[in-house]
Amino acid sequence: MKRIINEMKLRLPARSVNEATARSIISAFVAELSPTVEELGDLRCAVSEAVTNCIVHAYRGLPEGQWGQIYISARLYDNREVTVEISDNGCGIEDVQAARAPSFTTGELGERCGMGFLVMESFTDGLSVKSKLGRGTTVLMRKILKP
Ligand SMILES: Nc1ncnc2c1ncn2[C@@H]1O[C@H](COP(=O)(O)OP(=O)(O)OP(=O)(O)O)[C@@H](O)[C@H]1O
Ligand SMILES: [Mg+2]
Repeated sequence: MKRIINEMKLRLPARSVNEATARSIISAFVAELSPTVEELGDLRCAVSEAVTNCIVHAYRGLPEGQWGQIYISARLYDNREVTVEISDNGCGIEDVQAARAPSFTTGELGERCGMGFLVMESFTDGLSVKSKLGRGTTVLMRKILKP
């Protein structure tokens, strides 16, 4: 049975500056497990994509100067597993399977390329996406660090 050795919860407004905030905090949090440079880069990148999605998509249409919230919760386990859950109370995704397909985007043409979920999937050891229209989205990723 794996056991939790550390955990954290964080709430950040969905402002673009907080993409970097989230990345830095995750780096600091996993430092205890001494990840390789590559593992750290993978995690930072995956977290970045999930947080960016909350910032760009979840709360689109909110009046300027108002932000929704991003909820991040992370855990370290004694088997060197790291889990990060990133959720929002935003617009939700109509068809998660379609949204996860490479190149699917509802973003502005030329600005987004629809690769975020693919990056999260390829840089981690497991990705689950749950979403309800009008309620929000939860992305759970798992990474197992080398011994
Ligand atoms: N948190 C979210 N809330 C609402 N919709 C989302 C959320 N995350 C993703 N989506 C939807 O899923 C689509 C695919 O997301 P993905 O991250 O793969 O690509 P993208 O954000 O459009 O482009 P890229 O990440 O390459 O800049 C988005 O275009 C958006 O429609
Ligand atoms: Mg994206």
